[in-house]
Amino acid sequence: MIIRTDCRCCRGESLIEVFNLGEQPYANAYLSAEQLGLPEQRCSLVLCECADCGMIQLRHVVDATDLFSNYSFLTGSSQRMVRHFAELMRENIARYVPANGLVVEIGSNDGTALSTIPSERCRRLGIDPARNLSDIAHERNVPYITEFFTEILARKVLQSHGSASLIVACNVMGHVDDLDDLCRGVKLLLHPDGALVIEVPCANWMLSRTEFDTIYHEHLSYFGIRPLATLFSRHGLRVTQIRTQEVHGGSVRLTMLHGEGHSGQVTPWVEGEMRQRDWTAFGGRCEESRERFIRWLTKARDGGRLVVGYGAPAKATVRLNYCNIGTDLLPLVVDSTPNKQGKFIPGTHQPICDPSRIEEQITSDVVILAWNHEQEITTKLAGYKANGGRVSSVITLPGN
Ligand code: TMP
Ligand code: ZN
Repeated sequence: MIIRTDCRCCRGESLIEVFNLGEQPYANAYLSAEQLGLPEQRCSLVLCECADCGMIQLRHVVDATDLFSNYSFLTGSSQRMVRHFAELMRENIARYVPANGLVVEIGSNDGTALSTIPSERCRRLGIDPARNLSDIAHERNVPYITEFFTEILARKVLQSHGSASLIVACNVMGHVDDLDDLCRGVKLLLHPDGALVIEVPCANWMLSRTEFDTIYHEHLSYFGIRPLATLFSRHGLRVTQIRTQEVHGGSVRLTMLHGEGHSGQVTPWVEGEMRQRDWTAFGGRCEESRERFIRWLTKARDGGRLVVGYGAPAKATVRLNYCNIGTDLLPLVVDSTPNKQGKFIPGTHQPICDPSRIEEQITSDVVILAWNHEQEITTKLAGYKANGGRVSSVITLPGN
């Protein structure tokens, strides 16, 4: 673990602490039954804001190999995300990739996005350090390099595959400490007429929607347009398009080409996001959210109702730990990801079971912790609801 004292977008050194979640376990470090009795690794979770460019980043940077060699989030577990990435690839390949051109995905996870591209249309290459995910990608016949994307790796790929017409990096920039190295790699590998397309969750939405559960050790950065534009222009890449996306609690998709001078879209975005961010109000709303969740669970338990949490993403770990909700208040969570089942939530120790447990047990309430998938999960629970089960989302629980 290191403490970062400069902004990773503008390299300024005026970082101001704005929000502190205390000592937290690693959100994706699901525990086996044997690990339950052992001490858990914890690390401070503190957000800082750059006074120069408005970048928001964690003060403590955990060693990436600890977090990413065995990664439990599978893109393919959500049908909505599969459709989302298929559309992204289809649109950008049509625009930027000639026949047999190269598409590189940084942070290619289980190969979901690349597998939507017909292999006869262009050459595909996934790059991701998670060994467990590369196995899945290989099964899908997606060419894959099991490493972190760095300038050194970019040089090797350039030699072995030639330049890339399209480089895609979705929900990966926030995980990378050395963004200068990543940008140097992109600059090197990207074809002169090629495009870089990135997607990142949007920091201002995180704030305005009180999405404190998206703050965890793997998410080193919480971007706005201004810090990103600053970063890319330092590397000779210009932002040509900004689009909002309703995924991961509100994201932005940016397209970059080689060259200087950002699109006219950038200035109004920057002005909008630099209007005052109210961290005190955000902190107050986080507290309220915590109190509301505890009150709701306590009332359910005292009324003899069995509540099950739906979804065990990292954000469930953060919320349960921030609210300090143990198995007395929430005895069980379910998740459709096979490699999470049989494990336990870090810190608060709820067992993670197959969703079929909801129908098997006399569950009276389901509270959706993976709130960004509310619609998809609610659809799956239609039968349960028809039998009188109640379904709520953790972010819209009633206040009493
Ligand atoms: P995410 O919030 O990081 O996208 O993770 C979503 C989690 O929710 C992931 O662990 C899979 C789980 N999930 C289900 O269990 N059932 C579902 O229907 C969906 C969409 C997700
Ligand atoms: Zn900065």
